[in-house]
Amino acid sequence: MTSNHHQSVMFTESIDALNIKTGGIYIDATFGRGGHTQGILDKLDKSGSVIAFDQDIHAVEFAKENFNDDRLTVIHSAFTHMGELLSARNLSGKIDGILMDLGVSSPQLDNADRGFSFNTDGPLDMRMDQTSGISAAQWLAQADEMEIANVIYEFGEERKSRHIASAIKRMQQDKAITTTLQLANIIAGVVRSHKNKHPATRSFQAIRIFINQELKQLSETLEQSFDLLAPEGRLSIISFHSIEDRIVKQFIQKYSKQKQLPKGLPVMNIDIQKTIFKDLGKQFASKAEIKNNKRSRSAILRIAERTTLGVTPC
Ligand SMILES: C[S@@+](CC[C@H](N)C(=O)[O-])C[C@H]1O[C@@H](n2cnc3c(N)ncnc32)[C@H](O)[C@@H]1O
Repeated sequence: MTSNHHQSVMFTESIDALNIKTGGIYIDATFGRGGHTQGILDKLDKSGSVIAFDQDIHAVEFAKENFNDDRLTVIHSAFTHMGELLSARNLSGKIDGILMDLGVSSPQLDNADRGFSFNTDGPLDMRMDQTSGISAAQWLAQADEMEIANVIYEFGEERKSRHIASAIKRMQQDKAITTTLQLANIIAGVVRSHKNKHPATRSFQAIRIFINQELKQLSETLEQSFDLLAPEGRLSIISFHSIEDRIVKQFIQKYSKQKQLPKGLPVMNIDIQKTIFKDLGKQFASKAEIKNNKRSRSAILRIAERTTLGVTPC
């Protein structure tokens, strides 16, 4: 049976971080099952609106079946296209807040046929958008050993990446790797479990990030936020692992630092001194939430505010 349950992580904190204006326009970049979207809608009056994105068609179908609200528009697309899609709707510079709750949803993890789970067997897919791209199984079949090792090392910080890649290629000489448990068992033959973590945790994370181009999409979308956000518009971003959080952190820090003007620059260029974002810090899930929802253990929420005068970098 298909599960649709997803418990929104850091719900109150991430919604509060948006500092919602009742008539504002908000983006939920990662609709999932709409928990955060509903939280935003609940704070808006009739004139406010939410535009939500999800690249998973099942999330969009869920929205169509379960959300009946004129203030909500749900778009089936990777959030990396939000810049072009919103500017086509004449919304550049008019967005009051962007929420991103990154990674995969519980329905994606829990439904074995999506191929994300190393606990229950399913086709080795791992695509959030099953309407395009190649599955993890197809990629593992066509990639060479070095490429697999690099992905597992870079996106999973897995020290045994070379051994894992070599074991994968050895297995493929006998038969194709097509299911999640096949892959998980190969990895478990090479990596010892640590602190109750399944040995395949890091490798599955790495392959998933690679298959969905998650880090590239995140970086590209952050860069688009300059032009989309209105003055005082907020970014509220929840990430679930250090590689992702580093990208968000470095982005906010880079554009919240005061730039030093070279001496003697004419006064007309004074705007360049203003920063583009105000860094409003980071938060973690409360102990109570972590006890109640294990997924929130690794969540880091970062908040930033678009300044009123900062210049958009070229
Ligand atoms: C953690 S869940 C979000 C859950 C949601 N906040 C809720 O309360 O139900 C992440 C969702 O974002 C989607 N997603 C992840 N990366 C995406 C991207 N680059 N573009 C669009 N959707 C993405 C996934 O398909 C998934 O449905």
